[in-house]
Amino acid sequence: MNLLEVKSICKIYGSDEAAVHALKDISFTVPKGEFVAVVGESGSGKSTLLNMLGALDTPTSGKVFIDGNDTFKMKERQLTVFRRRNIGFIFQAFNLIPELTVEQNIIFPVLLDYQKPDKKYLEELLTVLGLKERRNHLPSQLSGGQQQRVAIGRALYTRPSLILADEPTGNLDSQNSSEVIALLKEAAKKYEQTIVMITHSPGIAQTADRVLRVSDGMLTDFGRCLE
Ligand SMILES: Nc1ncnc2c1ncn2[C@@H]1O[C@H](COP(=O)(O)OP(=O)(O)OP(=O)(O)O)[C@@H](O)[C@H]1O
Ligand SMILES: [Mg+2]
Repeated sequence: MNLLEVKSICKIYGSDEAAVHALKDISFTVPKGEFVAVVGESGSGKSTLLNMLGALDTPTSGKVFIDGNDTFKMKERQLTVFRRRNIGFIFQAFNLIPELTVEQNIIFPVLLDYQKPDKKYLEELLTVLGLKERRNHLPSQLSGGQQQRVAIGRALYTRPSLILADEPTGNLDSQNSSEVIALLKEAAKKYEQTIVMITHSPGIAQTADRVLRVSDGMLTDFGRCLE
């Protein structure tokens, strides 16, 4: 069963002479539980693609199905809820809420959904992410690696079927990067989550089940091979 199905996505920014063809007829599928790395030069269209997968932006044409749901057919409010429940986002800039503690940042998406936080899972995540002693700290009191682990905790906490990550280790040193990726993979395996991760790191791409290369808005599937 494919968790993600991308059909002929095109994205054009602007119009006339200023038009940028950022994505040119991209199609691919990702089976449930797969860890896909997306690589490619700066400006090739990786973030644009990830934004389409997460329905953060709409394509000029084409479709995206997540778990069989046609995301661009949904109404805005329906999509907001769908996104919150089914997709975990991790960005290079951690995007934590500065006024909230580690613990509050992690449970925030669940509170937004008017649901009761799962205390047991929170403890589990804090332990796995090595944040137990930092649970009442504010983001400004944490190191970069710790802040990114909070962002990962927040993305995992709703147990989304799809995790979208845009250079999640871009701000981390290599030691912290490997730790963060290992944690993410461990959690994803446990809950059969699918990961699509943009990375500039050949080391990280090497650990993926599959590597997709974006080049000038076009996609090549490299399978398990890296060139
Ligand atoms: N909002 C926008 N308006 C116009 N052009 C845009 C917009 N966002 C991105 N682009 C253009 O689309 C192309 C793809 O950009 P994108 O951000 O997807 O690249 P990327 O592969 O993520 O690069 P990087 O590795 O530097 O993050 C670039 O040429 C960029 O200038
Ligand atoms: Mg980018």
